[in-house]
Amino acid sequence: MIYDFDEIIERKNTQSSKWDNVAARIGNGDALPMWVADMDFRCPIQVVEAVKKRAEHEIYGYPYVPPEFYDVTASWLKKRHGWEIRSDWVVFTTGIVPVFNTMIQAFTEEGDEVIIQEPVYHQMIHPVNDNGRVISNNALLCENGVYSIDFEDLERRASRAEAKLLFLCSPHNPVGKVWSRQDLVRIAEICLKYGVIIVSDEIHSDLLLFGNRHVPLASIDERYAWNSVSCFAPSKTFNIAGLRASGIVAPNPEIRKKLENQFKKNKGIQQNVFAVPAYIAAYTECDDYLEQLVAYLEKNIAFLAAFLEERMPKIKIGKQEATYLAWLNCKALNLSDEALAEFFIDKSLVGVSLGTAFGDEGSGYVRLNFGCPRRTLEKALHQILIQYKSFGF
Ligand SMILES: Cc1ncc(COP(=O)(O)O)c(C=O)c1O
Repeated sequence: MIYDFDEIIERKNTQSSKWDNVAARIGNGDALPMWVADMDFRCPIQVVEAVKKRAEHEIYGYPYVPPEFYDVTASWLKKRHGWEIRSDWVVFTTGIVPVFNTMIQAFTEEGDEVIIQEPVYHQMIHPVNDNGRVISNNALLCENGVYSIDFEDLERRASRAEAKLLFLCSPHNPVGKVWSRQDLVRIAEICLKYGVIIVSDEIHSDLLLFGNRHVPLASIDERYAWNSVSCFAPSKTFNIAGLRASGIVAPNPEIRKKLENQFKKNKGIQQNVFAVPAYIAAYTECDDYLEQLVAYLEKNIAFLAAFLEERMPKIKIGKQEATYLAWLNCKALNLSDEALAEFFIDKSLVGVSLGTAFGDEGSGYVRLNFGCPRRTLEKALHQILIQYKSFGF
């Protein structure tokens, strides 16, 4: 089937967080929403059919997670990333954000440290603070727009007795970086040496652009698998985040049991009746969608990069290796973060995410979601361009 990603679909008044909650979340209800990681594309027809079929049954009592859920997760990981796992390593969760909270509660005490790598997905930051644990920020290094890991600093942080967990974002949101096998080996070896468990968030691992390959950290070595949990989901890949289903791979039975027990204690885990049928359809019937989606996203980011370079050269982007989230370096505009928010959101009426939401290292940056029809992206860029010129940049 051929998908039409150019189609503009009205999303207002659908109880969409991205479109209907933009005033509360972004500060201006008139801004074109290009913030949260949610694409403006129809999801695959096979997912729609699976949801409709379930809806037509007309009884929506408590669901359970069937064995097929665990098997399709294993098949997907083998097919996409060449990682062979056992189905009984998989834990069902209603999203990946709940895993951060649960892992903190199961594996750390008050005052313990969780290592993160800012600028990073903000939901890795909040649960650490919310649970009374301490952020240990192994900030990413950035040279000429290329991000890398400060391994010396990572080792220093991991060696502290208080350090218990590392939240790894792979591929990395917001900087769009795919970590190499060599990077992953160095991270995993440091964490093993000091007994720091890795929570490897690989939610963006299917959205790899320009021939980049994703390596699941735990697939490299059994010892790494034993010292980690890896988080996967079809939610970003197939634009079904609102259905809430993800598969967490925890090969170490002790870690898996502790994680499952904590989820039980938290009592928040039960899925809705549409989640698993959609998940199974996405992971078994929608490869053609993903192929076309990646090709479309590659064209969008190429268009965005060329537009910036030719018409707004003071706004720069690095190499986009994964995801549909572009990390715009606006430092050359010489605006404070408040003024940057005003420039994009209030003047240009483009609802980007502010870089500072991802940590102090995000100062001078904004994140723009290009998972939308090209015409929407063009509209946003033209709105920004008008302000860029009127500010005299
Ligand atoms: C890195 C990363 N992890 C997790 C999530 C969201 O996880 P979920 O919706 O499954 O809770 C996002 C969404 O943007 C993300 O970018």
